[in-house]
Amino acid sequence: MEKYIIEGGRPLFGEVEIQSAKNAVLPLLAAAVLTDERIVIHKCPRIADVLNMVGILGELGCSTKFEGNDLVIDSADAANHEIPSSLAKELRSSVFMLGSVVSRFGRARIAYPGGCDIGLRPIDLHLNGLRRLGVCVSEGGGYIDCSCDKIEGAEVVLDFPSVGATENIILAAAKAKGTTVIRNAAKEPEIVDLQNFINRMGGKIFGAGTATVRIDGVKKLGGTEYTPVSDRIEAGTFLIASAMCGGEVSLKNADADNLSFLLHKLREISCKINTKNDKIYIRSGRRLSPKLVETSPYPGFPTDLQAPMTALACICEGSTVIVENLFETRFKHVPELIRMGADVTVRGRSAFVRGVGSLKGADVVAGDLRGGAALTLAAISAEGLSTVTDLSHIDRGYSDFEYKLRGLGARIRRVRI
Ligand code: UD1
Repeated sequence: MEKYIIEGGRPLFGEVEIQSAKNAVLPLLAAAVLTDERIVIHKCPRIADVLNMVGILGELGCSTKFEGNDLVIDSADAANHEIPSSLAKELRSSVFMLGSVVSRFGRARIAYPGGCDIGLRPIDLHLNGLRRLGVCVSEGGGYIDCSCDKIEGAEVVLDFPSVGATENIILAAAKAKGTTVIRNAAKEPEIVDLQNFINRMGGKIFGAGTATVRIDGVKKLGGTEYTPVSDRIEAGTFLIASAMCGGEVSLKNADADNLSFLLHKLREISCKINTKNDKIYIRSGRRLSPKLVETSPYPGFPTDLQAPMTALACICEGSTVIVENLFETRFKHVPELIRMGADVTVRGRSAFVRGVGSLKGADVVAGDLRGGAALTLAAISAEGLSTVTDLSHIDRGYSDFEYKLRGLGARIRRVRI
């Protein structure tokens, strides 16, 4: 296991380059199975979730290699349709393979997916969507089995705009016979990226980014090269870091349009923000409390930035109510923030935060990916020395996290324990 040792209290200055979005790259890797031609993902982040997904591609018989920052995938020899528990449990996105593997082989057998422990994370919407397309789905012994002679286009109405279910249905429908229409689809930018990627492969998908996505199935998809959209959650994490520590930071390869809700909140608490082309510039201000932060599907405030935002609220002037509408138990970072002197009460899906001006260094433990990032931000802004233990969570989603923070002036180093 590894931990960060952090000497907090220094302002952040400088520029940081944002990686390609984790949540865009993962479904693209699943889409690579839809062709037997060569796929190149440019600027592919070497985060643990991506490396685990690459491991799954290997298990299916695809060959993969990194050439610098580009990931090259060749699925010509893919022959296996089964993903064992040892691989599937490493990440939630293993479930995307259902749609693409059943499309390629007419069957798929995948152990239940893992991922962050942030409450029940059912996959009923994924499975019901696949059933609507004519896929026979059964569950038992920790596995999901899918089979079909052919996938047929259909109308799929989602009870909730699930990101993963929307993507899984797109993957299954891309080469289906006929047209699929997804209603109440999720609108996240990463879904637009999946549409653009598959269309570059020869697909015919329209409407991603809106509540109705239409997929006209095509017979064959070919190879392509693609640069994924920038990671709005990593960008948001660095913006919040800057708001917490003070100073002036500029992000490059960032997309302000995909972060409008966060930028609005940061302006509300008196941060000065300018955007130009792929840059976002932030100068932190007085840190008035954001009052109310309520997570909701895109374009609302992202649940993946709730933990960092809670850490920020802890050091603002005044009180904030944080409402987590997406996941049931996504406040595991709160007891750790309290160790650092935060004043927070959690009732159900709401956290009531009374700002305390500044936090004090402490030994804390990361319990999940975004919670771990939030604790790291709390520690670099806090007075004194902190440790953040179990970096495996943070490594799932952030490439070179401590290296980038150090580049901005934070005193942070990684040690093995
Ligand atoms: C994706 C993101 C994750 C983000 C989340 C919400 C990826 C790889 N992960 O996760 O970082 O936090 O979107 O923006 O893109 N639900 C069901 N049944 C289902 C599927 C989902 O009830 O079959 C519920 C979930 O329990 C949750 C809500 O729908 O309450 C949203 O989940 P969903 O949008 O599917 O999130 P993920 O795709 O898992």
